[in-house]
Amino acid sequence: MSKSAEALFLALALAATAPVMAGAAWAASDAPKVATAPQAAPAQPPASLPVPKVTELGRPALKEEIAAWNIDVRPDGEGLPEGHGSVSDGEQLFLDNCATCHGEFGEGAGRWPVLAGGRGTLKSERPEKTIGSYWPYASTVFDYVHRAMPFGNAQSLTPDQTYAIVAYLLNLNDIVPADFVLSRENFPKVALPNNPNFFDDDRTTSEKEFWNANPCMKDCSGPMKVTARAAILDVTPDEGKDAPKGNLE
Ligand code: HEC
Repeated sequence: MSKSAEALFLALALAATAPVMAGAAWAASDAPKVATAPQAAPAQPPASLPVPKVTELGRPALKEEIAAWNIDVRPDGEGLPEGHGSVSDGEQLFLDNCATCHGEFGEGAGRWPVLAGGRGTLKSERPEKTIGSYWPYASTVFDYVHRAMPFGNAQSLTPDQTYAIVAYLLNLNDIVPADFVLSRENFPKVALPNNPNFFDDDRTTSEKEFWNANPCMKDCSGPMKVTARAAILDVTPDEGKDAPKGNLE
């Protein structure tokens, strides 16, 4: 920095700090007063500041913004865009955009999510939840892929590309044949195998006992019975003379 530039810089710096110092001096002289006021009311804005009306906040959303947000697809197909795509087109798109993470056949590379297979494993010790084994509706596949995949480049797929990829995923899960073309028109007819195992929330009937004004709070299930043992930790109380007193049988 040259000498004159240095002087200018210093002058500017002093000018900039002046109000701060003035403020600090004011705060210091004012401090005892504040400290001795035990329940000081929170500062109010000066009456001269205009208070915005709620209706003046923001602006109406544009048609284009609403259209960009409104991309959900429902089980009956409502919300699906125009378009179609074949299993074979989907296979190529999947290899190009998805297979690095999900494997060429949806088997999952490394620990990325598995997208195919797993049928009949839901009741096993290691259930594998996939589109074919678990998901209730094909619309969720379309919605999810269209909205969130490929991971890191979400919403880059066109509707036709999404139809094709969903067709390929359905084919990987043995739900549609290899020559299938998925479209907005035939979409609602695609049924996923696990759909019947989803049912409406039945708590008002199945938990009727519980939802009353005076729920049972003591000895509700009668005497306790050991039905399984914690084999590895060995914490299940033993029967016989060492068994703790109580209603264990
Ligand atoms: C960079 C890795 C990556 C790529 C590429 C990728 N995904 Fe994914 N995908 C993920 C991750 C991670 C999740 C889990 C995200 C979560 O649970 O929030 C996921 C989840 C999914 C799921 C839901 C799985 C489930 O059962 O919950 C589907 C379906 C899916 N991806 C499809 C695709 C498709 C189709 C493509 C290509 C267009 C794709 N993904 C590309 C990483 C990837």
